[in-house]
Amino acid sequence: MNPVQAPYPATRLRRTRVTPAVRALVRENALEVGDLIWPVFVRSGEGIEEPVPSMPGVMRRSVDKIVDAAAEADALGIGAMCIFPYTGIEERTEDCAGAWAPDNHANRAISAIKDRFPHIAVMSDVALDTYNINGHDGFVEDGIIVNDRTVEALVKMSLSQAVAGVDIIGPSDMMDGRIAAIRGALEAQGHSDVMILSYAAKYASAFYGPFRDAVGASGALTGDKKTYQMDPANSDEALRLVARDLSEGADMVMVKPGQPYLDICRRVKDAFGAPTFAYQVSGEYAMVKAAAQNGWIDEERVMMESLMAFKRAGCDGILTYFAPAAARLLQG
Ligand code: PBG
Repeated sequence: MNPVQAPYPATRLRRTRVTPAVRALVRENALEVGDLIWPVFVRSGEGIEEPVPSMPGVMRRSVDKIVDAAAEADALGIGAMCIFPYTGIEERTEDCAGAWAPDNHANRAISAIKDRFPHIAVMSDVALDTYNINGHDGFVEDGIIVNDRTVEALVKMSLSQAVAGVDIIGPSDMMDGRIAAIRGALEAQGHSDVMILSYAAKYASAFYGPFRDAVGASGALTGDKKTYQMDPANSDEALRLVARDLSEGADMVMVKPGQPYLDICRRVKDAFGAPTFAYQVSGEYAMVKAAAQNGWIDEERVMMESLMAFKRAGCDGILTYFAPAAARLLQG
């Protein structure tokens, strides 16, 4: 009898799972601190660190406290931070002029981090929602979110961030044509090294709820964002958006939300091979926190498993509120 024709399966996949050392040998993906981008919320004032109720463990910080957060990131080996401004209703206007004010608190936070920690890559958010009286990412005229006038404002906003010293511009607005317009303006103004991470496949998602509390947009938002953010039912459209944004000059692309859209991450990575990121958004974070607070899941293990899932799906990196906690674990 041929010895390889044993009565049992020749391939026993359990063999390579038998010990931690063997599992480490055959492990296909790894999560590293360098994969993490930490989103932080900046607000006006000084010496302020106020908790965001729907996002346990997440703070809104004044600029000086953002610098403390950058020191924490630096100590943990986190190499990238993303700045989101919180604006009270009294700071919001119809013309959204705060969005490109050179000294708005987002721009001051960008400069403050770059002054102290020049090696940290600082990413911005480009969209009007945090400055808009009605909470939309674009200008509203007669109830319609207008595209081209919004793009002109997004260009001004991006240039103000570039002047503040941002490394990576993050347009999260979903207007058409904004990547080409921003890229062109950056080149023309001598900011050719500033990168663009386009929120290319951004869905109209209920998972953003806690974020809108964090940035003060919940009370402000009128209606929904379905005329510019994607329909959760669509997948081919995500590839068209990514192709379009890469052709307009995006250096990196984002899929958002993350975990419910891992299929999109994989399709994007396979189709383009471009640097691909996922945003593990506020609602994803809040769900893990809430379940853990009830003692229903193991927070650390669920956190690490969810982050590894992004790597397995083809993502190069993850924007996540868990960044410091995950970095702490990864550092042992
Ligand atoms: C808005 C923006 C949103 C998020 C990031 N940028 C919310 C929205 O589109 O309404 C959500 C992030 C999160 O939920 O963590 N430009």
